[in-house]
This record gives sequence, structure tokens and C-alpha cells, in this order.
Amino acid sequence: MPLWWGKQQVFENKAKISAVALLFCSQAFANDSVDVLHWWTSTSERGAVRFLQSKLLEDKIEWRDAAIPGGGGIGAMRVLKSRVLAGKQPAVAQLIGPAIAEWADLGLILELDNVAKNNAWPKTLSPTVNELLLHRGHTVAAPLGVHRINNLYYNAKLFRELGIAEPKTMDDFKRAALRLSAANITPLGQSTEAWQVATLFETLVLMEGGPAFYRDVFVRRNANAYLDPKFARALNRLRQMRAYTAYASNKSQRELSWTDIAQQFANGQVGMVIMGDWFKGELLTMGQKLEQQFACTTVPNTQNYHLYSIDSFVMFSGDYSQQTAQEKVAQLMVSPAIQQGYNRIKGSVSVRRDLDQKALAAMDRCAQSSWQTFNRGKAMQAPSLVHRMAADEKFKDAMVAQIQKFYLDDSISVQENQQRMAAMVRALNIQEGNTEQ
Ligand code: GAL
Repeated sequence: MPLWWGKQQVFENKAKISAVALLFCSQAFANDSVDVLHWWTSTSERGAVRFLQSKLLEDKIEWRDAAIPGGGGIGAMRVLKSRVLAGKQPAVAQLIGPAIAEWADLGLILELDNVAKNNAWPKTLSPTVNELLLHRGHTVAAPLGVHRINNLYYNAKLFRELGIAEPKTMDDFKRAALRLSAANITPLGQSTEAWQVATLFETLVLMEGGPAFYRDVFVRRNANAYLDPKFARALNRLRQMRAYTAYASNKSQRELSWTDIAQQFANGQVGMVIMGDWFKGELLTMGQKLEQQFACTTVPNTQNYHLYSIDSFVMFSGDYSQQTAQEKVAQLMVSPAIQQGYNRIKGSVSVRRDLDQKALAAMDRCAQSSWQTFNRGKAMQAPSLVHRMAADEKFKDAMVAQIQKFYLDDSISVQENQQRMAAMVRALNIQEGNTEQ
């Protein structure tokens, strides 16, 4: 610094230096920035995104958020299609289940084989997770978490006050429902929104038929399975469940979002909820204390099964200019630190099968049960239809719409609905060249 510099000059110069430093720092903070399209907009989902953003930033990658509201991703899938058609595909997009293959078929998805190989994904990931990421022998997606759908949440405080034990069987469940009703509390929180009704229904199909029957119905699309007494029992159960919901007394209620249901549950308006474990993530984010205020268990008769939905992200290749950053994102998503922190917020469990005792002990009992059951293997697993694990979008949408129709319209008998769904399945199978009749 020249001796003739006055105080003011020193100050100005310092300010300039810090401005440059700041600029340099923010550039150093994020060397790359990726545009990420997803459907995580609830409070816990946003919390999980913020966690991912901060972790990526440690590696100098900025996650630019493109969140499209709509539970289950219905809106996000539409936006993704229109963005790709307009040539504005995101660098990273939430895409799950067979939809991954549909997009990969178009040749738009970056292959992540090097990331998978260098990080030993085939060895460290649960086999079902790993299979979901593969397309024609190439890894085309990065997984984040395994959600379990067949969960029963109950208001533990209320259950204690009313002397109700945790429901283990359907008889227990009915007794709990009657007790709650007598105390003027709606027994089951349930929206009439199509995907939420169908989420309950697929759990009931698993309850009545177990994983083999479930796969026959939703994966193999055997039309005769829809005429099976087990399918009839699941439909009957759906109507019975409806009798425990607010819809039974008020048919004109608007379709509630799943976060509205979480609010009702936290307020003590409803005593139980059957929902994927993103629901647990949301309750925890709302400050609800597990075991004290609410508890979770599996839906009766499904304790050994795992109805799963696996969240994953694909990278759109574009002109390959973002490949390095995209590969880094994929690698980080599966890293132990991100797996642990992210899944705790989101309510899901790790996609890795190499968890040690310490990592397991850090999980709550529902997460432990989810992870252990999932890793017992395929015979225990059922892929969620509604959450895109079992079938293509067209089949899923047709089934989900019909299940909601049946739920809302008493004039459709169980038998009639079986016939309708079987006919729809036959027609869709013929259209798509599926030889299953
Ligand atoms: C599922 C998704 C979850 C959660 C949920 C509600 O399809 O796997 O991560 O977002 O929808 O939107």
C-alpha cells in the first residue's frame, strides 16, 4: 500500500476488495448450477430439498429449484412433458418407476454407468432399487429414498386417553374406530382425491391378497385376478373404510390435500390415517413428537410386507455441458451422509443395504421396520401402483380413476366394479400388446 494513502482510500479499497472477495466466494460456492424439477412442495418435502441444496452447495453445485405442486407428482409430470417438448428440459428431474424407462427409450436421459461403477451401486444398493435404475443394462437414474405405503398412523395421546391399544388386527382397528367415533372424533382421516383413495385401496389389495396376488393384479395385469374374491374383499374393505371417514357424513366436502389431512391429524380431528411415510416426515416437521403425540405401525395383516415407492432422479443429457455436475449430483444423492440426513426429514429410508448397527439404531421403529422388511427381499415387496412403481402412467391413471369412481358412487356394486376393471385391464392389455388376459 503506498504511504500516501489516506484513511478514506484504505477504507474504500478494503470495501472493493471485500466486494470482489464476495463475488469470488459466491462463484467459488457454486461452480455449477443445475435446474431440478420435482413435486416436493409440502413443508417436510421443502425441508428435504433445502437439506439437499445445502449438501450440494458444499460441493459447489447450486440446485435451482423448479417445484411443481401436486401430491404424487401428477402436475410435475405434465410440466416435464411440456418443458421437454419446448426444448427446455431441466438438468435433473424427479422421475420414478417405469416412467424412467419410458423417458430413457427416447434417448434423452444421461447414462450414469461410471457413477454406478465407481461407487459400487450394484453392491451397496438394495437389489430392487438397483433394478429400477437400469435401462437396457445402463444405469439411468439416481435413487434417494424408499417410502413405505402400508403404514397406519394413530394419535398416540388420544389413544392413551381413550384406553385404545395399537391396532394389530382388523378387529382391533374396528374397535378403535368405534371408540373414536363414540368420542366424536372422525376415526380415519382420508381425502376423496383420486390418488389418495387409490393409495388406501392398494394397501387393502395387499392386505387381502399378499404380494403375489398384488403383483398379479397390478404388475402382471391379469384381468381374471380382478374377478377374484380377494379383489372383491379389498373393494368391500374400501367401502367399510369410507364409513370411518368424514365423507360418510358430509359428501360435499372438497378434496383435501394430504397435508390438509396431516393438519387434521395433528389437531386431533381425526384419530388414524393410512398413508405413505412422507406423512411421518410431515408430522415431524410440524413438531409432532413420535410415540408421545403420534405413533406409527403397519396396516393390519401387512406387517411382513412392504408396499414401496422409491424416489429417484434422472439427468437430462441435453448438449452434455452439465454432465460433470449431474454425475456429481447422482453420486452425492447416494452418499451415506445425504442418505441419512435426507431420509430422516423425508420420512423414507435409505436406498443402501449396507447400513451398520449405528445407522439402524439412529432410526425410529417405523423406519427400522421399513428398512428391515424391504431388505428381506422381493417376496415381501409390493410395488406401489399409485406411486408409479408397478405400471405405466396410462394404466395407473385408468385404474386410479376407476377406484375413485367406485369410492364415490354407491350405485356401482362391488361385482360391477370388478367387471368394469377387468374389462378395462383387458382393453389396455390388448392396446399395449400385453399377452396377459
Ligand atoms: C409420492 C412420492 C413421495 C411424496 C408423495 C406425496 O409419490 O414418492 O416422495 O412426495 O408422493 O407427494
